[in-house]
Amino acid sequence: MSRRTIADLRALHAAGRRFTVATAWDRPTSEVVEAAGIDAILVGDSLAQVALGHESTVRVGMSEMLHHVAAVVRSSHEALVIADMPFLSYPDAPTAAENAGRFLRDAGAGAVKLEGGAAMAPIVATLTRSGVPVIGHIGLTPQSALVDGKPRARGKQVDAALQLLDDARALEAAGASAIVIELVPAELASAITARIGIPTIGIGAGAGCSAQVQVLADLLGLLAGTPPRHATPYATLRDSAITALQTWRSDVEAGRTPGAAQQVVADDALRAALDVLPR
Ligand code: KIV
Repeated sequence: MSRRTIADLRALHAAGRRFTVATAWDRPTSEVVEAAGIDAILVGDSLAQVALGHESTVRVGMSEMLHHVAAVVRSSHEALVIADMPFLSYPDAPTAAENAGRFLRDAGAGAVKLEGGAAMAPIVATLTRSGVPVIGHIGLTPQSALVDGKPRARGKQVDAALQLLDDARALEAAGASAIVIELVPAELASAITARIGIPTIGIGAGAGCSAQVQVLADLLGLLAGTPPRHATPYATLRDSAITALQTWRSDVEAGRTPGAAQQVVADDALRAALDVLPR
């Protein structure tokens, strides 16, 4: 099977099928996402927190993102790989084009995602005119954390909700292929979805979106702490990993491993030579 493109996701949407997007950042995470048949892998800048231990997504730049996007492309074969444009990598159209080009040309991604609404439309238009598939991102936009403070739901008041609808329409008119909608009332995300022609990809935005995206670490229970309310852990891999490592540690301490199956066995000649080796 060849690698999916943004056109394949739009075809799924046109056929009325809800598609799935999960984040990944390296070979183990890409391999499990792809093996599960997830339609697209987002190399989200949330890797700042979930893979690199930063407080916020503003701490990663182009070099870290290129490194991880290239790793995910090498480690997957079928999923569309979407590269998240990091903080300050798209302040104007020429810079955005240069950096999107690095993700598509140098790292092998199939699309880019960038945060922001109507104000980003000129940048989205420049990219899409040049053949770059762009996914917008409205609602909670974590790259604005330094200005906005603590993450909180968006679009709860009527004027803010209507602004988000305008943002979605402006991104669609500028040529965006899809829009991530993060942490807004479910009714608003459904209303936006019903009023635009491109797929909406929800996270904390209810079931009325065309597709869903989640951060892999939340889905799999990889990290300590409580995941966000919108992310149901479907596994507890951190607990399983700790149990496995504790078992290995006690096996080593008790001399139960390595056993016969894990070691190289000397032949008769070597054994004989070792037997007479002076101390
Ligand atoms: O960086 C990321 O993981 C994202 C998702 C939350 C959509 O942008």
